[in-house]
Amino acid sequence: MRKLLNRVLIRFGLLITKAPTILVEKKLPPSKLIAPSLTEKVKLQPAVEKSKNEIFDIFCTETKVHKWHHYFDVYERYLSGFRSHPIRMLEIGVFRGGSLRMWNRYLHPDSIIVGIDIDKTCAQHENNNQGIHVRIGSQADLKFLAAVNEEFGPFDIILDDGSHKTHHQIFSFNALFRNALRDGGCYIVEDCHTSYSAKHVDSPETFIEFSKALVDTIHEPYLGREEKAFRLGHMDALQEIELSYLSAHLHSINFHDSIIAFQKKRRALPTSELR
Ligand SMILES: C[S@@+](CC[C@H](N)C(=O)[O-])C[C@H]1O[C@@H](n2cnc3c(N)ncnc32)[C@H](O)[C@@H]1O
Repeated sequence: MRKLLNRVLIRFGLLITKAPTILVEKKLPPSKLIAPSLTEKVKLQPAVEKSKNEIFDIFCTETKVHKWHHYFDVYERYLSGFRSHPIRMLEIGVFRGGSLRMWNRYLHPDSIIVGIDIDKTCAQHENNNQGIHVRIGSQADLKFLAAVNEEFGPFDIILDDGSHKTHHQIFSFNALFRNALRDGGCYIVEDCHTSYSAKHVDSPETFIEFSKALVDTIHEPYLGREEKAFRLGHMDALQEIELSYLSAHLHSINFHDSIIAFQKKRRALPTSELR
């Protein structure tokens, strides 16, 4: 009975069996291998120049949108490749609707932008004529997410700017990556600095820790196999191998200040060639 109760509490992020080390220690995890010259303290100055790109220009003329300035270069990096054709974008977290309008102005005019939010008042930001749709529900509700995917998905871009609670970030990633994100798409989670705030961490691992573990997943094919098993012309080369779905589809993970971007692309068997 107790086990079942714990499972239910964990499922809804209400029980942290073990607080993440980073919150207990309140300092960065030590690595004895980082050279002392790299850990010496240096002063940070305010930015001399603001981000110079089209999406930042749109942000400056938009209202009711809240974004950190250093996010714009990151958006440009992942979104600019999606501008030439109509795409589908899902944003978790609508708030005052400004970001939905910003994506709508930045992306191809025939794109479909879908915002989801737990707050019913966000429905007012729907503008079907502009391709902006809003659905009300929680990012931690599997049925709701499946229904949104059924109605509008799969998506080329999914951006999590929702509750920023770590169990929600993990839950939504787990729920959406496989079925709601198109091959070639990008899953972006922002405000990941919340992984360092006790107010937001409500899972046994922070979202940053969860994402670091996915770095290992990318390298799953090499676990227990010698390099030469992947060499062209070698006896064992080009045999099929079985991998987790995630490993077979997670092309890259990029860590930025407070933003993690996961690029999805079904991979082929890694092969090397000795010429
Ligand atoms: C940071 S705001 C979104 C800001 C908006 N994307 C922007 O850039 O202006 C976060 C939003 O997430 C919503 N939210 C909180 N918990 C949620 C949940 N469980 N599911 C979906 N949305 C949630 C809040 O109601 C709030 O409107």
